[in-house]
Amino acid sequence: MSDESTHWVNPLRSPEDKRLPRIAGPSGMVIFGVTGDLARKKLLPAIYDLANRGLLPPGFALVGFGRRNWSKQDFEDYVREAVEASSRTAFNTNVWDRLAEGMQFVSGSFNDDAAFDALANTLRSTDETRGTNGNWAFYLSVPPEHFSSVVHQLDRSGMAQPQDHGWRRVIIEKPFGHDLESAKELNRVVNSVFPERSVFRIDHYLGKETVQNIMALRFANQMFEPVWNSHYIDHVQITMAEDIGLGGRAGYYDGIGAARDVIQNHLIQLLALIAMEEPTSFSPGRLRAEKLKVLRATTPVEPFDETTARGQYVAGWQGSERVIGLREESGFDPNSATETYAACTLEINSRRWAGVPFYLRTGKRLGRRVTEIALVFKRPPYQPFEDDQTKLLTNNAVVIRVQPDEGVLMRFGSKVPGTAFEVRDVNMDFSYAEAFTEQSPEAYERLILDALLDESSLFPTNAEVERSWEILDPILNYWESHGHPDEYRAGTWGPASADAMLAKDGRQWRRP
Ligand code: BG6
Repeated sequence: MSDESTHWVNPLRSPEDKRLPRIAGPSGMVIFGVTGDLARKKLLPAIYDLANRGLLPPGFALVGFGRRNWSKQDFEDYVREAVEASSRTAFNTNVWDRLAEGMQFVSGSFNDDAAFDALANTLRSTDETRGTNGNWAFYLSVPPEHFSSVVHQLDRSGMAQPQDHGWRRVIIEKPFGHDLESAKELNRVVNSVFPERSVFRIDHYLGKETVQNIMALRFANQMFEPVWNSHYIDHVQITMAEDIGLGGRAGYYDGIGAARDVIQNHLIQLLALIAMEEPTSFSPGRLRAEKLKVLRATTPVEPFDETTARGQYVAGWQGSERVIGLREESGFDPNSATETYAACTLEINSRRWAGVPFYLRTGKRLGRRVTEIALVFKRPPYQPFEDDQTKLLTNNAVVIRVQPDEGVLMRFGSKVPGTAFEVRDVNMDFSYAEAFTEQSPEAYERLILDALLDESSLFPTNAEVERSWEILDPILNYWESHGHPDEYRAGTWGPASADAMLAKDGRQWRRP
C-alpha cells in the first residue's frame, strides 16, 4: 500500500500558507476501548471539539467497538455525556447532530472473529453511506496485552489493508511495552500488519502547545541557540509534578510505576526536543531523525544509588485535605513496591552537551501540579562585585513552563534600586494567557487531526520508543534488585534521596 498515492489532498490547505486551518479529508475512526477513561475524558471530547471547529469532514464516521450490548442510540447517549462533561468548546446542537449521525457501535470481544467481520461490514457500508472512501483510522485505547489480538483481528478480517482505495492507519496509546524486550515484541506484532508509516504512537505531551513551542523558541529565534550548550548551561531540570494520587488506577499503575508511566515517554521526549540539533525541516523524517540521534547519544549516569531516586507517597496533607498513602489506595497491594516518584540523571554524549547533567523527576501527590523544563546557566566566570553584593543572586535560568500557567520565564540578576549596589534575582515572564487571545487546543485534538491528515511528525517512531526503553532499562533493573522505594509524605516534594541526588553535585531542585 502506498500512502502517498492515496493521500487525499486537502483543497483548503495551501502548501504556501501553513497558517491556514488544516481540515481532515473524508475519513472515519474506530475506537477500541471506547468505554475506558481515556476515551471518555479525552478522545471523544477531542473529536467533538474538532468537529465543532470545522476540522472534520462533514461525513466523518465514529465507530465504537466494545463488549457492551449497545444500540446506536446507547452509544450516542454515552458519547454525548462524555462530550458534555469534558469538551473544551461549547455544545452546539447542529454540530452534535451531524456528528451523531455518523456514529455506530459494534459489540464484541477482541477474540470474536464474527464481531470483527461485522465491524468490517460496518466500515464497508459506511463508506457507501457517509462517503468515508475506505479511509479509516483504528484507535487502540486498550491495555497493551490486547494490542496483538486487535491487530491480528484487523489483519484477518481484511480491515488492516484498504481494498481498492483509501488508507488504513493505527493509532496506539501508551504504554508501549514495559521494557525494551516487550516494546520490541509489540513493534514486531504491529509492524507485521501495519507498515511503520501507518503507525501513529501517541505521546500526548507532543500534542501540547507549549511542547511544540520548544521548537519555536529554539529555532525561530536568534537569542537562545548560541547559549544552548555546555559552554553556558550548567544543568537541565525536567520536572513533571502532579498533585493527584492513584486512587482508582491500581489496575494500570501497580507494578508499573512513575518511571515507566511518564519518564520513558513524556520526559524523555521533552529531553529530545530540548537537546536535539536543529532539523533541516519539520517533516516527519527529518524531525524524528534528529530526536533519535540525540536519544542515541543519551545514557543514564551511574552509580544509580547516587544518581537516581525513587519514592512512594504515604499519608499526608494535600493543601487542607488529608490524603491516604499509596498502599492504602484501593486495589494496591499493601506491600506494593511501585514507585510513585522517580528521578534520574541522564547525560548526552555529544559536543554540545557533554558534561551537562539532565535531571528528570516526576511524582504523584507532590506539592502542586506543574510541568517545566529549566535550563540553569553557569555562573559568569568573573563578577566584579563584592560577595555580599551578589549573595541574593543565583544562576540565570530559562524555564519553559509546559503547564499550568503556560509560558516561558527568564531569571537573571538586576540591581536593587537604592544607593547601595546590590544584585538579586528577578523574573521576566511570558505567559500564553496574556500574550494570546486564542485558546490552546487540547493535545488530543491536535494529535487526532494529525493522524487523520497523515502528519506523523509528532508521533514517536518504533526506534525512538525502543531507544527510550534502552535508556531506562538499566535503572529499572537496578531498582528491581534494590528493595523498596523510599517514603515521602503526600503534599511534599518527594523523598530526601531526591534532594541528596542533586546536593552531591552541589545543586538543588527548583521549587516550582
Ligand atoms: C499520562 C500518565 O500519560 O499522563 C498519567 O499515564 C498522568 O499518570 C498523565 O497523570 C498526565 O497528563 P497531563 O496532560 O495531565 O500532564
